[in-house]
Amino acid sequence: MTNPADSLTIRRPDDWHLHFRDGATMRAVVPHTARQFARAIVMPNLSPPVTTTALARAYRERLLEAVPEGNDFTPLMTAYLTDQTDADDLAAGFADGVLTAAKLYPAGATTNSSHGVTDIANIESVLERMAAIGMPLCVHGEVTHADIDIFDREAVFIDRILSPLVDRMPHLKVIFEHITTRQAVEFVDGAGPNVGATITPQHLHINRNAILVGGIRPHMFCLPVAKREEHRLALRRAATSGSKKYFLGTDSAPHHRHAKESDCGCAGIFNAPYALESYVEVFDEVGALGQFESFASFNGPEFYGLPVNEGSVTLEKVDVAVPEEVDGGDASIVPFHAGETLKWRLVS
Ligand code: DOR
Ligand code: ZN
Repeated sequence: MTNPADSLTIRRPDDWHLHFRDGATMRAVVPHTARQFARAIVMPNLSPPVTTTALARAYRERLLEAVPEGNDFTPLMTAYLTDQTDADDLAAGFADGVLTAAKLYPAGATTNSSHGVTDIANIESVLERMAAIGMPLCVHGEVTHADIDIFDREAVFIDRILSPLVDRMPHLKVIFEHITTRQAVEFVDGAGPNVGATITPQHLHINRNAILVGGIRPHMFCLPVAKREEHRLALRRAATSGSKKYFLGTDSAPHHRHAKESDCGCAGIFNAPYALESYVEVFDEVGALGQFESFASFNGPEFYGLPVNEGSVTLEKVDVAVPEEVDGGDASIVPFHAGETLKWRLVS
């Protein structure tokens, strides 16, 4: 018999932020997420980006075709905001249930963000419309100015962009995505219930040493980049605190091995295959297994105003060996924790 402390059954969880790409890569990666999660918020930074309701509808069809038979999985779509976004199209897509949220990428902040917003003033009326209809805004929270150090870009974004935005639009639902700093935790803790945040597994496991000590480790590089240890510890406290403001969002971002192991390696960590196993290990390490279900299964739907899932999943404290690489469609992908042994396994 399994010791109760070595087994955890929770309501079926969701992933509130990830990247599926398109084509052969999409078909290779979707089954990993569909095995673990009931729903996922799908990022729109394809090339070209998913900027309209029509593009999101078509992308959703392609994603559904990639879901394996017998897996009950729902992609929740987002529209990529640009300086030219049409608020009427966004509102229609939200009303029709095609769009769940819109995504703000400051232009140049990360992968395929060159069409992003060049100045938040350019989308003020779009954001006002979103606040009025209750459409959530997902935010990549980094400034992009060359004079701001990459390790400071999230904290500066809070001061210059996010905090003023939340003050201007107290009713806009804002998800501060993949937070990486103590400053982000302090901001989210201090904000109203309309501000939530996702936290990735990698930012709970690694600090910036993982990228640079002993050689450059391209598979540990993502954006926002992992910060100092004090920030990782602040994120661990936030995720495991029981606060409803924090929820699971992997930011799983597949790039083929050769695109990461390059003289200009892409940002992104592919954590989809063992995402739940990776998160639960952290909750176990800090003695907070009792908080895992809220983080993984309840806080996200509550924030988005969606029902929690039916059914449950069970994790057992059994070693699982993570492979060195997985199939990525046209080429292989190195997953997060490659070659390591994780202590928990998703059994059903
Ligand atoms: O590391 C990242 N990869 N951060 C992002 O914001 C985008 C993502 C991607 O699309 O590869
Ligand atoms: Zn992302």
